[in-house]
Amino acid sequence: MAELMAAMSLATDISMGQPMEDGLAVCLLATRLAEFLELSEPERVHVYYSALLRHIGCTADMHVLAAAVGDDVAMRSAFITVDLGRPVEMFAAMMRHIGQTYAPLERPAALVRVMAATGKFRSGGDVQCEVAEMLAARFGFDDSFQRDITSVLERWDGKGFPGRLRGEEITPAARVVGVANLAAVCHRVEGPSAALDVLRDRSGTAFDPAVVAGFVARGAELFAVLEADSAWDRVLEAEPGERPVLSGTRLDEALQAMGDFADLKSPYTVGHSRGVADLAARAAERCGLPSDDVVATRRAGWVHDIGRVAVSSAIWDKPGPLTRPEWEKVRLHAYHADRVLARPRFLESIGRIASMHHERLDGSGYFRQAPAGQQPPAARILAVVDAYHAMTEPRPYRPAMTPDQIADELRLEVKAGRLDPDALRGVLDAAGMPVGRRREQVAGLTAREVEVLRLLARGLSIKQIARTLQISPKTADAHIQHIYRKAGVSSRAAATLFAMQHDLVASETASTASED
Ligand SMILES: [Fe+2]
Repeated sequence: MAELMAAMSLATDISMGQPMEDGLAVCLLATRLAEFLELSEPERVHVYYSALLRHIGCTADMHVLAAAVGDDVAMRSAFITVDLGRPVEMFAAMMRHIGQTYAPLERPAALVRVMAATGKFRSGGDVQCEVAEMLAARFGFDDSFQRDITSVLERWDGKGFPGRLRGEEITPAARVVGVANLAAVCHRVEGPSAALDVLRDRSGTAFDPAVVAGFVARGAELFAVLEADSAWDRVLEAEPGERPVLSGTRLDEALQAMGDFADLKSPYTVGHSRGVADLAARAAERCGLPSDDVVATRRAGWVHDIGRVAVSSAIWDKPGPLTRPEWEKVRLHAYHADRVLARPRFLESIGRIASMHHERLDGSGYFRQAPAGQQPPAARILAVVDAYHAMTEPRPYRPAMTPDQIADELRLEVKAGRLDPDALRGVLDAAGMPVGRRREQVAGLTAREVEVLRLLARGLSIKQIARTLQISPKTADAHIQHIYRKAGVSSRAAATLFAMQHDLVASETASTASED
C-alpha cells in the first residue's frame, strides 16, 4: 500500500508542476513532526497517508481551470506557496502567471476570463474534494482518512481550500500535513531558515500555532530527514502502524483508481484506461499469452496513461493541431509514466509494458523509440489497444470513429510496419470485429520466429536474442531449431542466407546488433 501511494504521490507532484519527490518530502517531514508532537500511532498513520495523497483530487475539473488560465499545471505551480488568506498576494501570483503564459496582447482578455471564472474555481474545490474522497475510498481508506485528505489545505482562520473548516474543526493529521506541505516546498526553494520564517509568519492564520511551534522548535532535526540519499526508501521505512498490503482484487481496484485519476485530466479521456485494460486483457488471451502476462497486460492498461497528469489540460483539450513545444510535452507523458511506475518494485515490469504504449515497431514511437526487438508481445498488444480505444473516443479535433474506420486505420499502421499484425488480429477479435485472413508468413514461420530469424541473421547469439526479445535462452533456442526445420536448413549461415533471400533482415535489427 505504501509503495503504491508513494507512486501516487509522485504522480500528483508532476500534476502540480513540482519536482518528483516533493510529496515524499512532505510525508517524511509530517511523519516525523507527528512523532515530535506525540500523536498516537493511528493518528500518525493518518498523517503518513494523507501526506502522500494530499493532492489526489487535483486532476478533477482541470479542464475548467485550463479554459480560463491556459496552462493549469503552470498555474498550480505558481500558487504553490501563495498565502490564500492574502488577496493581494493571490492577485499578484495570478498576474505573474498570466504574464508568463500569454503574449502581451492576449493578457487583458486572459485576465477578464480569469475574473469571470473565479466562482468556478471556488466550486472546483468541492469537486476536487469529492473526487479525492472517491479515489481514497477505492484505495481502501475509510471516511476518517478521506476527511484528513480533503482538509490538508484548509486554514486555521477558515480561509483555506475548500474553505469548509477552521481551527480545531480541522483534523490533527490535516493540520500537521498542512504545515509540512508548505515547509517542504519553501525548504526546497528558499532553504531552511526562510522556510521557518514563512511558517512563523502564517502561524495563527494559515496554521495551528501549536503545530508551527512544534515544527520550529525541532526545525533542524526535521529538515535533516530530507538529506537522505533515497527519499523513496526512507518513506517506506517511515510508515507507522501495521503496514497494509495490497494484493489480488484490492490491488486491481487501486490500479484502476489510479487510471481513473489520470483519465480525469480531460473530459475526452474519461474511462479510457479501464477500457484499454479490459480490451488489452481479452486481446492478450486471444493472442495466447500466458495467464500471468494477461494479468500484467490488464494492469498495465489501467496505469499506462498516469503520466498524462503532467501535461496541461489545455493541450489535451486543444481543438487544433499542436505546436512543436506542445508535442514535446505530450511525448513526455509516456516517460513520466515510466518514472512513476518504476519506483514500486512490484510494478516494475507492469510499468515497462505500460510506458511502451506509444512505441512503434519501426522505431518511430515514443519515448524510447524502441525497435521492434525490444517490444514484448504485451507491449505490442497494448500499443494496438491504446490506438484502437482512443479512436473509439471523441477527441477535441475529431469525432469518435466507427469500428470499420478504426480497423482500416490500424491495418494501414500494420502495413506501414508500425503495429504488430498478430496483436491487431487479437485486438479486433477481442473487440468483436472480423479479423480477416491470416497473412501468410515466410515458409510458414510465425511473426515471432521471423523476429528471431532476423536477429539470428544479424549475427546475434542465442543469449543476445533471448535478451533482446525478453525471452529465455531455452525458448530462443527452441525457436531457432523450429526455424531451421521449417526453413529446410541446418545451420546459422544457411538460415542467414534464407533470411536475406526473403528480405527479412530489416533495418530495425541493425542498431540492436551493432550495440551487442
Ligand atoms: Fe498515452
